[in-house]
Amino acid sequence: MKVLLIGSGGREHALAWKIAQSPLLDALYAAPGNPGIADHATLVQLNVEDHAAVIAFAKEKAIDFVVIGPEAPLVAGLADDLRAAGIATFGPSKAAAQLEGSKGFTKDLCARYDIPTGAYQRFKSAEPAKDYVRAQGAPIVIKADGLAAGKGVTVAMTEAEALAAIDDCFDGAFGAAGAEVVVEAFLDGEEASFFCLSDGKTALALATAQDHKRVGDGDTGPNTGGMGAYSPAPVMTATMVERTMKEIIEPTISGMAKDGNPFSGVFFAGLMITAKGPELIEYNVRFGDPECQVLMMRLKSDLLPILYATATGTLDRVDAEWRDEAALTVVLASKGYPGAYDKNTPIAHIPEATEEAKVFHAGTALKDDRLVATGGRVLNVTALGKTVTEAQAHAYALADRVEWENGFCRRDIGWQAVAREKA
Ligand code: AMP
Ligand code: GLY
Repeated sequence: MKVLLIGSGGREHALAWKIAQSPLLDALYAAPGNPGIADHATLVQLNVEDHAAVIAFAKEKAIDFVVIGPEAPLVAGLADDLRAAGIATFGPSKAAAQLEGSKGFTKDLCARYDIPTGAYQRFKSAEPAKDYVRAQGAPIVIKADGLAAGKGVTVAMTEAEALAAIDDCFDGAFGAAGAEVVVEAFLDGEEASFFCLSDGKTALALATAQDHKRVGDGDTGPNTGGMGAYSPAPVMTATMVERTMKEIIEPTISGMAKDGNPFSGVFFAGLMITAKGPELIEYNVRFGDPECQVLMMRLKSDLLPILYATATGTLDRVDAEWRDEAALTVVLASKGYPGAYDKNTPIAHIPEATEEAKVFHAGTALKDDRLVATGGRVLNVTALGKTVTEAQAHAYALADRVEWENGFCRRDIGWQAVAREKA
């Protein structure tokens, strides 16, 4: 099979690394990719926003299958256009990608199909939103409706904070994403991420993970795209997984199909495990970054036939086997991230991968044949271990061997699980 992978982050490096191990693979291309992905794929400079150019490239190289990593091309309808051109594609249609692209869309789906989530209202102007907040009281959650790079959510502990967040949204802090606002009940509990494939009819549960969104140790400081993750998430017991499938994933699959937007791709469900059980915080319609890195480390099965079955409606014929070990990834980021940071800082050394540990590339590039950091999140040091505690020790041992002066990382990735394992 000839495969084209779209994307350039740590997530796509992990996908490329796994796909490259498939005996079914004849050739792997990545657009635009990164220097880590170049170890497994031929990099192609394609403008991914130009769907005709992607299709022309796929035809020219006789690509059998396109795997789309990030959300932006999905929300822009790249999967629809590829499929219309007769090319099998992993990733949902533009209509189904609204599950990530519009929080209001997802909340309305939950309301229609009785999927547990926080009570909510949608607003197109500030005053009625503020009245609703005053009536509900704090804590309460204010969300820009559209894609806001993870920054459109305010968990307001006071009414004043909530009112200010509403003004921010309607004053254009998140551009068009904030033209509509969702006000949502605060859910109290432990968060977990759940990953599940669907071909529109069948669901295949993958694995669970926990992310660390804040930049600082002890979950302090501003939100980021994710500073590290581990899998599995201990809060997601077998019972919780079963309930999530029944109460959240299955009604989503049947509801989307009933509404004429069958979902094909990966559900990345952000859950709050409350006293009542699993409740949906949000859906993403692609793998998490860096959650994908820990999932791929733990996946024993060949990834390629699983993704292909998802894309071609044959998910009932495949299964996914997982290692019993835990996996943990530590993000090395440029000093200053998520604020301003220097670009093109030199990375002098990345240690070799072993069977148990690997450094994935995210925001790296080659400049005059030297590896440099170009992004905020730059490297994902990922390791396996019998426990999260052991995976954490392996990951930090490897991270400490990376030579990159402008890099930093959190030193406590996995702390909740480590504390549980000690107890
Ligand atoms: P989101 O971008 O929707 O994932 O929200 C970002 C973060 O805000 C989540 O990871 C949660 O930590 C928090 N959050 C979102 N919605 C709620 C809610 N209804 N109750 C409590 N926390 C929330
Ligand atoms: N790590 C969170 C995300 O990929 O959205």
